[in-house]
Amino acid sequence: MTDVVTMDKIVSLCRRRGFVFPSSEIYGGLGSSYDYGHYGVLLKENVKARWLEAMVRDREDIVALDSSIILHPRVWEASGHVSSFSDPLVDCRTCKLRFRADHLAESQCGKRPSKRPGETPECDLTPARQFNLMFETRVGAVEETGTDVYLRPETAQGIFINFKNVAQLARRKPPFGIAQIGKSFRNEITPGNFIFRTLEFEMMEMEYFVPPGEAEQWYRYWIDERRGWYLRFGLRESHLRVRPHEADELSHYSSGTSDIEYLYPIGWSELEGIANRGDFDLSAHSEASGTKLEWVDGVTNERYVPHVIEPAAGVNRSMLAFLCDAYDEEEVAGRERTVLRLHPQIAPVKAAVLPLIGKDSGMVERARSLFEELRRVALVEYDDSGQIGRRYRRQDEIGTPFAFTIDEQTIEDDTVTIRDRDSLAQERISIGRAKEHLLERLSANWRSPKPE
Ligand code: GAP
Repeated sequence: MTDVVTMDKIVSLCRRRGFVFPSSEIYGGLGSSYDYGHYGVLLKENVKARWLEAMVRDREDIVALDSSIILHPRVWEASGHVSSFSDPLVDCRTCKLRFRADHLAESQCGKRPSKRPGETPECDLTPARQFNLMFETRVGAVEETGTDVYLRPETAQGIFINFKNVAQLARRKPPFGIAQIGKSFRNEITPGNFIFRTLEFEMMEMEYFVPPGEAEQWYRYWIDERRGWYLRFGLRESHLRVRPHEADELSHYSSGTSDIEYLYPIGWSELEGIANRGDFDLSAHSEASGTKLEWVDGVTNERYVPHVIEPAAGVNRSMLAFLCDAYDEEEVAGRERTVLRLHPQIAPVKAAVLPLIGKDSGMVERARSLFEELRRVALVEYDDSGQIGRRYRRQDEIGTPFAFTIDEQTIEDDTVTIRDRDSLAQERISIGRAKEHLLERLSANWRSPKPE
């Protein structure tokens, strides 16, 4: 069975339900930039929370960090970003558009009916030139004396330059890791495919420092671990794959990289990269700064520069993968239903509380009181406006896994129904057990009912 999801349907649902809007829309929009509405923020926060739990709460060998977005400019010289973080670009002198030289086959020319840059005789492409992807800005009140700095294109370097602080204070010895979530910025010129590729985005990166002889073993470990994380939160196995990089694809710092790819509606594309960065970063910053970034064993006095294994994931790309994997359409009682089958721990809203008749004061009173009780333990929504069918559909479209309905019987015997988003099954339970029941259902194992 083919998946019904398309990128257009995701964009449309995200806009309709207030997950994601084009940025600066009232000024005509800004390419590859998006703003996140209420449900988008909640979904993104859940992705980050699950990552942080897996990295920091559930383990003893990884600590958290939040470093600055603007770092000393020499950081980016030492890291190799000033010299090597670039894309080969060509300009078309006719249509004035700019293209990635290595993506010409998938690019769209500005002239019609041509499809590909260089396809018509009018196309006039310049030779490829390297363009650095880092955004530059200036620090300092006075233009002349200010310093040129960069907005960080990755969070990783903030971790490397704090290695000494953390190693001393966190009382961890290799293998140990430092995890960071934060915004990064890249001057991307290729069309972004919605939130897949944007100028600013959030990264979830963890640098795992290991004894040099153990690097290969930890590289394999983190590939498995990260793949398992996506499966645990509901992505279908058939839509995930691990693709090792060819030697000519490797970044300047990497001796081995594998991408975890997801089968987006645009095809298999990178969701996360796991790299074996060797001792490149700590050695480069030691040399450039004059501060030794190495591990010294307090007991044996053994010293070495740890090697680094880095799982680097994009929050926005993960959110897009969860949305695409969850999107479904089906016919129920002769009517089309759109539903996001999100893992309950990823879903923005965990439960809705709905009085069957919004004008019935008895039902409203019971529903409000249940809502007040549930909101203390989970993100829940109260809704009493419009027909109950419409209210269910709205919750289905934002992926709310459970809905409590308060009806005539609630008034008689203190029971409510709980509706399951995926199966549409309705179970009647005592209102006194609703909170406990919800918490049990939210922590239970969940698998996507969509076919692989
Ligand atoms: N420190 C390693 C590093 O930066 P990367 O593969 O360039 O590696 C890691 O980026 C992840 O960040 C990617 O797998 C992707 O999920 C996300 N990412 C990178 N560029 C992005 C962009 N322009 N928009 C959205 N996400 C992006």
